[in-house]
Amino acid sequence: MIEFRAVDKSFNDETVLRQVSFRIRPGETKIIVGASGSGKSTILKLILGLIRPESGQILIEGRDITALGEEEMVSVRRQIGMVFQEGALFDSLSVRENVGYRFFEEGTMEEAEIEQEVLRLLGFVGLAEAIDKMPAELSGGMKRRVGIARALAGSPRVVLYDEPTAGLDPITKRTIVELMIKLRDLEGVTSVFVTHDLQAATTIASEFATVDGEGRVRFSREKAPRRLLNINFILLENGRICFEGNHQQLMDCEIPYVRRFVD
Ligand SMILES: Nc1ncnc2c1ncn2[C@@H]1O[C@H](COP(=O)(O)OP(=O)(O)O)[C@@H](O)[C@H]1O
Ligand SMILES: [Mg+2]
Repeated sequence: MIEFRAVDKSFNDETVLRQVSFRIRPGETKIIVGASGSGKSTILKLILGLIRPESGQILIEGRDITALGEEEMVSVRRQIGMVFQEGALFDSLSVRENVGYRFFEEGTMEEAEIEQEVLRLLGFVGLAEAIDKMPAELSGGMKRRVGIARALAGSPRVVLYDEPTAGLDPITKRTIVELMIKLRDLEGVTSVFVTHDLQAATTIASEFATVDGEGRVRFSREKAPRRLLNINFILLENGRICFEGNHQQLMDCEIPYVRRFVD
């Protein structure tokens, strides 16, 4: 789905990513952890084509995007949903306009159709009643959930999350993590989750969602199904990948930097 081949990126002579290579298969969850300033957000911006690497290749569904023009990049971006740090809503737009932004912008859907889709997306994050509210009227956690609903507009196959749980209280954090697990297990979304919240990352790597007989979503840790094998970690140290593997391998890893991070 996504591949980096020996990607180098620098800003004003400062090298931020060095020879970064990895692959993300369809349906995989890639969790990128690392200290602040280690280059995590830069990787997401490169996937979106918002910035370009100095060297190396970035492939999305086998297509090298490093040489694409802005117009072609717009169509690549359409398959990708982005959940920004802090939700990043447009303050002057209502929740309806924020979530339906992409549809209003494209202008190909009927008003009633947009309304229905916006309500479905808000229902997914449990905020249908907030449709007429303005961002300023929402709590931090609600803003984050509206940000997720907006990222899901157009049913992207890939969702990128930049620190979606940063600065939230434990209960709200749990709500966000459950939404991410639901998207993975019930919708089959491929995701890249950038965080320094190792606890949230651990939950994502050890719980899975199923729907019970009454249609209720259940979260469980027992008898982990195969899909939990489809979750992999990358640890960045100053723009280099210093570890790549699954959750168990991360916990068992002996590399000193990994130990310092994990402990
Ligand atoms: N647009 C930019 N211009 C200059 N420097 C940048 C820019 N974006 C990021 N950087 C620098 O690149 C490094 C990595 O940033 P970032 O990817 O945001 O780290 P992280 O998300 O891991 O905290 C930091 O030193 C940051 O200051
Ligand atoms: Mg960042």
